[in-house]
Formats: sequence, C-alpha cells, structure tokens
Amino acid sequence: MSREKKKLTVLDLFSGCGGLSIGLETAGFDIKLGIDNWDKSLETFQKNHKNSEILCSDLSKLSPQKIEDKFLKNGVDVVVGGPPCQGFSISGKRDVRDPRNDLYKSFVLFVKYFKPKAFILENVPNLVSMDNGKVKDQIISEFEKLGYKVVYKILLASDFGVPQNRKRVIFVGLKNKSEFQYPKGQFVSKKVTSSEAISDLPESDVADGNSYANLPKSDYQKSMRRKSKGVFNHKTTKHTEKTIKIINLVPDGKNYKSLPKNLQGTRKVNIAWTRLNSKTPSFTIDTGHRHHFHYNFNRIPTVREAARLQSFPDDFIFLGTLTDQHKQVGNAVPPLLAYEIGKELSKQI
Ligand SMILES: C[S@@+](CC[C@H](N)C(=O)[O-])C[C@H]1O[C@@H](n2cnc3c(N)ncnc32)[C@H](O)[C@@H]1O
Repeated sequence: MSREKKKLTVLDLFSGCGGLSIGLETAGFDIKLGIDNWDKSLETFQKNHKNSEILCSDLSKLSPQKIEDKFLKNGVDVVVGGPPCQGFSISGKRDVRDPRNDLYKSFVLFVKYFKPKAFILENVPNLVSMDNGKVKDQIISEFEKLGYKVVYKILLASDFGVPQNRKRVIFVGLKNKSEFQYPKGQFVSKKVTSSEAISDLPESDVADGNSYANLPKSDYQKSMRRKSKGVFNHKTTKHTEKTIKIINLVPDGKNYKSLPKNLQGTRKVNIAWTRLNSKTPSFTIDTGHRHHFHYNFNRIPTVREAARLQSFPDDFIFLGTLTDQHKQVGNAVPPLLAYEIGKELSKQI
C-alpha cells in the first residue's frame, strides 16, 4: 500500500508576496497561511499559493490564539518570517514606545504559542553586528528559553545558484535540540551571471502571457521557464530623453564614475547610474529605487528581469502597480535560497 508522506506545514509571518514560501513549497512544505499588513503583496501571495490562506493584519496586534482558532486548528510544524529590521533595536537606544519593536516580539510570541518543530527567521546581515552583537545574542537567548537549539549564518544567495550577490542572515531553531546544518552552496565557484539570467528577455514590452520570442540561452533560463506558459510582468519603464542619454554613456558593469565629470553628480547617491554586470551575478535587487540599469538596454530592469535575478520562476506572477511589484520582488527572500534551506530542514526535523 502506498502511503503519501504528510507534508510539514508552515506559517509565514511578514510573508510579503511569498518568496520564502514559494521556495519552501517547492522543497515539499505545505504553506498554510501567509500574514502581512500590505494587501497588494498578499494578492500576489494568493495568486501564487492557491492552496494557502492569507490574512491582512498588523502582526503587532494579532494574537496567536485567534490564528489558531481560525486557521491553524491542528497547529503548525514550522514558523518562518522576516520581521522588519527596525523592530530589532532591543538594547541601548531602544525606544519602548516605537511600535516597530513589537514586530520582532510578535514573531517570538507565535513561536512560543505554537511550539513548532522549527522556525526560520530571516533578516539583513547587519542584524548580526547591531548593538555590538547584543541583538543577535538576545534573539538566540530568547528562543533558547523557549526550548530551541538556535544557530545563525549569513548566506550568500549566489552560492546557491541565485544570479545575485544578496546576503541574508538566517536563524534556524530546532525543537529536537539538534543543531541545524546549513545547506552547502553548489555554485561557489561557478556563479550564475546576470546575462545567463535575463538575456532571453527582450528590450521592449511584452504583453502579459505572450510567448517567448527567443529560445532559452542558459540552463538557468530553461529552469526558470519550465512551468510558465509565457512572459508576464515584462513592462518596460519609459525614461526621459536625458536619462537615456546619460545611461547610454555607462558601459556594462560600470557606474557614474564612467561618465564625463560634468554628469557625475547628476544623481547624488553612491549607487547612481549603475549598470548590471552581464558577466557576474547582480548586486542586491532593491525595492525599485531606479538607480540600477540593465547591462545592455537603456532602462531599468523590468519586474520580470528583477524577479529572474531573485530566482522567482516565470510562472510566479506579480500583481499591483509597477511600484508595488518592484517592492514585492526586492523585499523577498530568493526562492532558490529558501528552497535549499527548506530541503535541508525537511531532512532534519
Ligand atoms: C522583508 S518583507 C518579507 C518578504 C518575504 N519574506 C518574502 O520572502 O517575500 C517584510 C514584510 O513585512 C511586512 N510588514 C511590515 N510591518 C508589518 C506589520 N506591522 N504587520 C504585518 N506585516 C508587516 C511588510 O509589508 C513586508 O511585506
């Protein structure tokens, strides 16, 4: 008699559009619920997680018991999430009246209430050095008091086949008291480059659902396209003549420093007029500040190109305005990184 193995269930707090969730789902987890207070990101989450539920709510005010009663009567195996990092200022200058402090606390509260087999807490790497390491120490001790063995590691997404040098700190706690063993990067010496990620996508707009104009040009493109019926979210930004003229002077992989002196100060940020480097993984994809341009075309990446650089498969479709979509992509944990972590986690719990 064949018996299907029961999937481990997941509660995703601060879920956004679900980068972390889609990676875990691909690794075999059953995503029960995503909670966020941003409705647009949840619309995207729902579109791409048809079997999951969503809840739009402020997590600093939400009681875990309500969530259990309404959504998770059978409890949950894994709690995951990335509370906004402003919520971590827990020593020294901490302002107890700052409501953002409650966001990290709410993650702790959910773990305390549901006692999952494991939790994954994701954040920006400088969390580790915040307040001379006190923030990190406090996170570890708080979860150890709840009975978890907690480890943390800064992972570089490009080591795991993501065409992007994004770093994230990943805390993992296991209730079975064993120390989580992190996945080993299989791409440390052979990184996926920006052009391997997006060179099949055209310079101009593609109407949602239209078929691909080119064959895939790399294994990475093949795998991103695998389940998709066509191109979505490839709407280009129309820049001013002046912007096009200036960015046209910047070569592949370079920035404002390659411009004539009189143009170098036209944008007063140190990431101004930066082009992707076609031969390396991308820099960290942001939430849409419009300073990062395509390595070849005179425009910023489309949402689909940014999503490829974040390792979202092409059948993952983003909803909302273009600004909303870029923010959802830039906020996310790269799904491929989440997948690798999930694969290890499912073996270890
Ligand atoms: C870094 S993003 C999460 C990205 C997500 N893990 C992913 O992989 O796609 C943080 C999320 O926290 C949400 N957020 C911020 N404050 C919140 C609050 N008070 N209650 C619920 N969600 C909140 C934001 O809307 C945002 O989507």
